[in-house]
Amino acid sequence: MKRKAGSVCEAVDTRMSVRGFTDQPVDGTTIRRVLEKAARSPSGGNLQPWYLYVVGGDDLQAFKAIMATRVKEAPTGEGPEYTVYPPGLKSPYRDYRFQVGEDLYDLLGVPREDKVGRMHWFARNYQFFGAPLALFCYVDRQMGPPQWSDLGMFLQTLMLLLREEGLDSCAQECWSLYHRTLKGFLNPPDELMLFTGMSIGYIDQADPVNKLRTRRAALHDFARFRGI
Ligand SMILES: Cc1cc2nc3c(=O)[nH]c(=O)nc-3n(C[C@H](O)[C@H](O)[C@H](O)COP(=O)(O)O)c2cc1C
Repeated sequence: MKRKAGSVCEAVDTRMSVRGFTDQPVDGTTIRRVLEKAARSPSGGNLQPWYLYVVGGDDLQAFKAIMATRVKEAPTGEGPEYTVYPPGLKSPYRDYRFQVGEDLYDLLGVPREDKVGRMHWFARNYQFFGAPLALFCYVDRQMGPPQWSDLGMFLQTLMLLLREEGLDSCAQECWSLYHRTLKGFLNPPDELMLFTGMSIGYIDQADPVNKLRTRRAALHDFARFRGI
């Protein structure tokens, strides 16, 4: 067995949160194959604590229609099941969060004062940015932070494998705000709780939102080295 991988770099480098998709459908065989591969992700004790729902076709259309109404009825959501960002988020994390928001809305030409415009744009999350496929990642309520981090490993592996298929994605924890409506639609067992949604499909290159190349902290800001 060859012990050196080909190029993970290209997948890592080209993965980005895509927020504008074409309506080209994603083949059911492809997504099943990618998910089977992604299941090679590591997890502490090999617990494999991810549980997924994948929705496409008419089912997705039906769910989008439900969400279009729901977002109008409850524009700020139904109350999340978990706190997405810690209250009083400190620097530098709050600065990074602020910056990515500013960069995104600058690109879209929606100024800070235009709260309605920004909310309106944010609501595109709930139409999966036009993607033909939606994925929802749940976790058993018994699980704690170590297993939640396993979900992250699974999801990143998945997003990289999608790149190999020419597909793009956007992880969407904003779905936590509508976990009740989602539960009504997917009917997961009570012991499961939603971590995140994800839009999956083919990038719309003409959509200006996809020009966003997010920033990253410099290596010396997040790593210290000793003896090397
Ligand atoms: C777990 C997770 C949840 C996210 N939730 C959302 C979301 O609800 N809506 C959204 O537009 N982007 C969401 N994002 C995308 C992040 O904003 C994005 O990953 C970050 O700004 C870095 O940009 P990049 O993915 O293009 O590299 C999420 C990303 C992750 C990893």
